[in-house]
Amino acid sequence: MAIADAERREIIEEASKRRTFAIISHPDAGKTTLTEKFLLYAGVIAEAGTVKARAGRRDTRSDWMAMEQERGISVTSTALQFEYRDCLINLLDTPGHRDFSEDTYRVLTAVDAVVMVLDVAKGVEAQTLKLFEVCRSLGLPMLTFLNKLDRPGKSPLELLDEIEDKIGVRPTPVTWPVGIPGEFRGVIDRRNKRFTRFERSVRGKTLAVEVELDASVAEAEAGSDWVNAVEECTLLDAVGATHEQVNFLEGKTSPLFVGSAMNNFGVRALLDAVVEFVPSPGPRQAVDGKLRPLEAPISGFVFKIQANMDPSHRDHVAFVRLCSGKFVRGVNLTHADTGRTLSTKYASTLFGADRSTVDVAFPGDVVGLVNAGELRIGDALYAGTPVVFPSFPQFAPEMFRRVRVKDPGRAKQFRRGVDQLEREGVLQVLYEGDGDPLPVLAAVGQMQFEVFQYRMEHEFGALIEYLSTPYRVARTITAEGVTQMGRVPGVRVLHRKDGTTLALFESLIRLETVMRDHPEIDFGALLGSGFSVLS
Ligand code: G4P
Repeated sequence: MAIADAERREIIEEASKRRTFAIISHPDAGKTTLTEKFLLYAGVIAEAGTVKARAGRRDTRSDWMAMEQERGISVTSTALQFEYRDCLINLLDTPGHRDFSEDTYRVLTAVDAVVMVLDVAKGVEAQTLKLFEVCRSLGLPMLTFLNKLDRPGKSPLELLDEIEDKIGVRPTPVTWPVGIPGEFRGVIDRRNKRFTRFERSVRGKTLAVEVELDASVAEAEAGSDWVNAVEECTLLDAVGATHEQVNFLEGKTSPLFVGSAMNNFGVRALLDAVVEFVPSPGPRQAVDGKLRPLEAPISGFVFKIQANMDPSHRDHVAFVRLCSGKFVRGVNLTHADTGRTLSTKYASTLFGADRSTVDVAFPGDVVGLVNAGELRIGDALYAGTPVVFPSFPQFAPEMFRRVRVKDPGRAKQFRRGVDQLEREGVLQVLYEGDGDPLPVLAAVGQMQFEVFQYRMEHEFGALIEYLSTPYRVARTITAEGVTQMGRVPGVRVLHRKDGTTLALFESLIRLETVMRDHPEIDFGALLGSGFSVLS
């Protein structure tokens, strides 16, 4: 399929305006607050507080969302798109709870950078570390936002060491606090040495008043706090902790900003940095190692599937990150797995749970394909030259339960629900053989079982019960490996519908024994294996 020069130029120009990123944090560090403040600064909402109000409205429409509300956690990931300066920002939401880290991982495959939010009182927390491992494995550049400086916290200099020690990435402060956390007076921008005074606002409903002062006025105003901050900046200069774009893109350093999302302080500087530092979408590597150029015909991959987002529609949305080409609604795409043609008549963009039709989209954008029933997570779609993108590594499940339907009369609904939720990647479904009526569900976290149970009941009308299993660890194994291993007590071999075989072990010791006795067996790597509860 030949693409006209004018269209090539348009694609390159539009892609260069895109900034596609996600915010990651330990729960409560301020991700939701910061997301909302980005929308405030981009002019999408006039007053902070509206996102929660919108969520409230949504929840009356959807009992699925109601569960999120009850739990106070975000289960579903959504994509927000808004303009800021001369850029189009795609902000992908990631579920905050560790039980959904596999979901988070998939979202992170679809972004070009992340913003990591740290609570100044807590520093680098467990969940941040785990998420960071994921970012590193994906080679994502990372910006850091040190949040909640309006409250007492750790010394920022100590935090720089903590980030470098625990994460292995060197923070390069772009803004630096004047005054200690809790008695925060403002920030110095190390690029131009100007001081911006911190003004508290009423829960940051409207834009913060940011007064920029030059050094002499700052010193008169902030006194010894100013002098200390200038000294610390001199120290940072001396140790070379200064932003260099190339080091950031290589994942060696992380430009750091300080502020208070709740008070809107430092939010604008961070959003400006998203525009200035986050790379625009580049060519994506296909499974054969070749790069698919941005201006090639359309390609993209599914990173999330969500059914029944709105019970009044009972539909099914596959979220596709576009990697190349100009997407025009209605274009026919090929599904790489089946070779089938897929219509995109019902393409939509999502703003939270609110949908609008998307007519045109470019690399970096997320398009929701409604009722594209055959798509699975990781699948590639294309026009013109075929392409397949690398599949997502899977997380090592750590919890296993057998599941059965309470009322045998609902067996059909049960099977439909299990199939659907498996396709969405809510958890992994393992079978002994074909059509085994009692599958084993495998999850990273307990909450995945709760979501599964809730959705089976509310969306498919199938009440279920769980039966415990003795298994604690799983690894992928080849058919040859199964033969080599033979029958071992405390080990069970099960299969997924996608053809993958997993060996389940009653304990890590059992796994280690089998590995020692059979060094020839090739146990596949599963992401997060090192984080196993038992290791
Ligand atoms: P999360 O999405 O990362 O889980 O965090 P979220 O934004 O929900 O923020 C967690 C809590 O931290 C919220 O308080 C929020 O108001 C507060 N917070 C966020 N940024 C700042 C900040 O800069 N300074 C201070 N002092 N607090 C901040 P909450 O009491 O749980 O909820 P709410 O009643 O305030 O909504």
